Amino acid sequence: MRPATLTINLNHLRHNYALLETKAKDAQIMAVVKANAYGHGLVPVSKVLYQQGCRSFAVTDAEEGSQLRLHLPKDAAIILFSGVFDAADAKLCSEFQLTPTITTQDQLNLLTEQLFTGFVWLKVDTGMHRLGALEAQTLHAAIQAHPRIELAGIMSHLACADTPEHPLNAQQIKSFQSLKEQLPAPLYSLFNSAGLIALSEQIDTQIMRPGIALYGIEPIAGQTLGLKAVAQLSSQVMQVRDIQQGESVSYAASWVAPHNMRIAVVALGYADGLPRLLSNQGEAGVNGHLLPIVGRVCMDYCMLAIEEHQVSIGDKVVFFGAGDNQPKANQVAAKCQTIAYELLTGLGSRLQRQYIGEKS
Ligand SMILES: Cc1ncc(COP(=O)(O)O)c(C=O)c1O
Repeated sequence: MRPATLTINLNHLRHNYALLETKAKDAQIMAVVKANAYGHGLVPVSKVLYQQGCRSFAVTDAEEGSQLRLHLPKDAAIILFSGVFDAADAKLCSEFQLTPTITTQDQLNLLTEQLFTGFVWLKVDTGMHRLGALEAQTLHAAIQAHPRIELAGIMSHLACADTPEHPLNAQQIKSFQSLKEQLPAPLYSLFNSAGLIALSEQIDTQIMRPGIALYGIEPIAGQTLGLKAVAQLSSQVMQVRDIQQGESVSYAASWVAPHNMRIAVVALGYADGLPRLLSNQGEAGVNGHLLPIVGRVCMDYCMLAIEEHQVSIGDKVVFFGAGDNQPKANQVAAKCQTIAYELLTGLGSRLQRQYIGEKS
């Protein structure tokens, strides 16, 4: 079996959840587990969080929601951040007791036409200008007027929470405050991971929506909370080879050995989610040392320059993880001009996924 592995440490997930619960003080937590729990596995992650006391789970759509419902008890709310796209989605909401968000009258109509009975969240735009009801009052009134539909809460999303001093945060908080005063609801929610950490003192909200922090990625650069990375991407050395000075490695001969040396061929490539942008600039941890990726990252392999270190066939190679002398997902993403969210959600489906720490 190919050794390319994503190891998910469920104890780290428990640690992060507990830390975020402390930061949330009296507010509840809606765990954002959309996009297959940011690549970590929707079901195992959600089951652990349920066991830790979480009762609200946010997924993308009805398909993810109905899959999750099969594994979570009835008292867990499953919220669809993208709401319903069509009648089939609305049917799934009824069948699997899902809680869609609503941003348009059309979405409400789809639900009522399918005789949906249950809770919805109203999602309002306060300045991000992505999803979110523009006619919040009208939609709020339509929900309130409907005999079979109940309002669970009102949510909005900040565009710049990871830059707490950005002026748009204050504007959005102000706008959400005025919505709170106009539109009654059982719960209000505004903050993702970064907002929970840096901005949640500024307005009273009852439920926080962390995603990335649950997975152990520090959401604000330079503000370390003590989160633990949940995912480790690793593989093994398949071959150790001698390369003479002047010989090149991998496609396009983009790297040429500056002197006689050894390289390690590792069974992990871009089809596993290792970004090709790491060619000639990434690193990986082997036996406690960081070794540079040399040459182009291939579909199934990449190569490391060994220099003076002791490296053998079968040695474990870590591309990101929580340990010392292992690259961090945030650093890897930054090298590729992206964010850890994209790196994690882009991990290949063919990776072996191993769960460590007691499974629920
Ligand atoms: C509406 C909404 N709330 C919360 C989150 C969680 O954000 P984060 O992963 O930054 O905590 C997301 C993620 O994109 C989102 O779309």
